[in-house]
Amino acid sequence: MSNVLSVGVIGAGGIARSHMNAIEANDNIRVVAVMDVDPDRAGAAAGDHGASVYTDLEPLLGDARVEAVHVCTPHSLHADQVVAAAAAGKHVLVEKPMALTLTDCDRMIDACDQAGKILMVGQVMRYYPVNRGIRKMIADGEIGQVGHLIRRRYSYFNPTPAGSDSRHWYLDLEIGGNCVLYCFGPHEYDILHWYLNSPVTQVYAQGSESTDLYQGQKDSYTAMMTHENGAVSVLSQTVVSHTGAHDQYIVGSEGSMMLSGDKLTVNGQEVSVEGSSREGMPNQIREFADCCLEGREPDASGHSVRHSMAVIEAAKLSAERNAPVQMSELERT
Ligand SMILES: NC(=O)c1ccc[n+]([C@@H]2O[C@H](COP(=O)([O-])OP(=O)(O)OC[C@H]3O[C@@H](n4cnc5c(N)ncnc54)[C@H](O)[C@@H]3O)[C@@H](O)[C@H]2O)c1
Repeated sequence: MSNVLSVGVIGAGGIARSHMNAIEANDNIRVVAVMDVDPDRAGAAAGDHGASVYTDLEPLLGDARVEAVHVCTPHSLHADQVVAAAAAGKHVLVEKPMALTLTDCDRMIDACDQAGKILMVGQVMRYYPVNRGIRKMIADGEIGQVGHLIRRRYSYFNPTPAGSDSRHWYLDLEIGGNCVLYCFGPHEYDILHWYLNSPVTQVYAQGSESTDLYQGQKDSYTAMMTHENGAVSVLSQTVVSHTGAHDQYIVGSEGSMMLSGDKLTVNGQEVSVEGSSREGMPNQIREFADCCLEGREPDASGHSVRHSMAVIEAAKLSAERNAPVQMSELERT
């Protein structure tokens, strides 16, 4: 068996370029094919890497050189493309959000399990050195038992700035899903239970619409989650704040941590962590290739990330019902 994984990239937009740059930076993976419904995009991306160009999925999946695919398309397409790739015998790395419904997440998991193929989700924040450091410090008990975690992600995300319409799908609920929950939420809701290594048992959330950028969608959400180990985490997010913030406090029985960007403070002292968040994508791609080559389950497997998607679903439901939602309602039976 080769020690270099040959992959096809499906969707050749913004994030696909990041995947392809990261593939180039790793020696255990190479791009052999690119597929996009837009031939110019597919051709431009493939040309930079000497890869074959396709504008339909079937011929890419029929290309015997392709051992695995990277699904980098709009959200509502993920499930069907992953299921088709698994049926064609390919391993899959699918970008976040895994899918827009739990039914689709389950279809993807089942298709890959039945085919005996790896399903990994692009939870790139799990591969940031600082986040790996925080998770290890919590696991090692450096701040004792964590009781409280509060996290903010505030930004202004306009997918269709003047003169550009190609990413209009981000504003379409059917294709993109609610943006704050399904564009940025998949990173944020995932990292909380991952840090604590403790699943969420209950979610109470409220959403609001502060501007008309998202045309009738809620553009801000705040959720309070209870974890199985008793910790409570709070996530506050907006996609319409011109004043940005990406930070968190974690409070434990023996100390506390504060993170702002890549800057980590533990008990008031700045702690240096080797490597920056720019290494997240190359780390993630290396992990995917290693798992496919070694037949090993990735940390951000479909099974693991399904819980994050269920927490997002619970936040949406909780805001609609104006009541807490028990995660038992959304777990797979
Ligand atoms: N990990 C991250 O931090 C991160 C950042 C940005 C985007 N993303 C995710 O990456 C995915 C793509 O986002 P993007 O910003 O690159 O979008 P994009 O609009 O820039 O690119 C999407 C591409 O998919 C192509 N496409 C549309 N329909 C297709 C089909 N049926 N088959 C093949 N290609 C098709 C489009 O032509 C386009 O080139 C989304 O899931 C998004 O949430 C992740």
